[in-house]
Amino acid sequence: MKKFAEIFAKNAHWVAEKLASDPEFFKKLAAGQEPELLYIGCSDSRVTAEELMGMHPGEVFVHRNVANLVVSTDNNLNAVVQYAVEHLKVKHIIICGHYECGGVKAALQPSDMGQLNSWLQTLRDVYRLHREELDGIAESQAKFDRLVELNVIEQCINIIKIDHVQRAWYQTGFPKVHGWVFDVRTGKLINLGLHMEKVFSDVRSIYDLKPNQQ
Ligand code: CO
Repeated sequence: MKKFAEIFAKNAHWVAEKLASDPEFFKKLAAGQEPELLYIGCSDSRVTAEELMGMHPGEVFVHRNVANLVVSTDNNLNAVVQYAVEHLKVKHIIICGHYECGGVKAALQPSDMGQLNSWLQTLRDVYRLHREELDGIAESQAKFDRLVELNVIEQCINIIKIDHVQRAWYQTGFPKVHGWVFDVRTGKLINLGLHMEKVFSDVRSIYDLKPNQQ
């Protein structure tokens, strides 16, 4: 297949470029990883985790799924978070949504989507939680954009409900949780400026798994 031949040719070019700038590049890469960031983003092909952040191999641990959701029964997500927090000891967890997200759009338009129904239910729950605000936005693009942002905020809250995250937080003060949105229309990353310690203290009586420790 022509496309595959191109991919392998590009890979060979990339290897040559890396070695030209640092002959030890792959030796260092093979020695291990110490990323400080766990990035949880959407699977959307336009939202390329490392590239949009200008990050290099070894710098960010990545998990992607449809609409950057943090679902408590998702074994894949839970394994990623546990490994990142307990073993890699990441300092920051970033939930990165993006405008024009197809998953978020689908949640705004009720329809039977087969396997996606159960996955998108989490997004429909975000809509229900913030229905008053969202239904108060008359312009459909603004409403869509706001649901993207509210989804990021809710997934940040879901991250701090996770036991591994809380344990690490109590022991070291890390990881910090950050909510970002990538604007595919401009290429810009937007920091939603969430104060997750404050958010956690507001919901602590419900979600704190070690209430007697602090
Ligand atoms: Co998306």
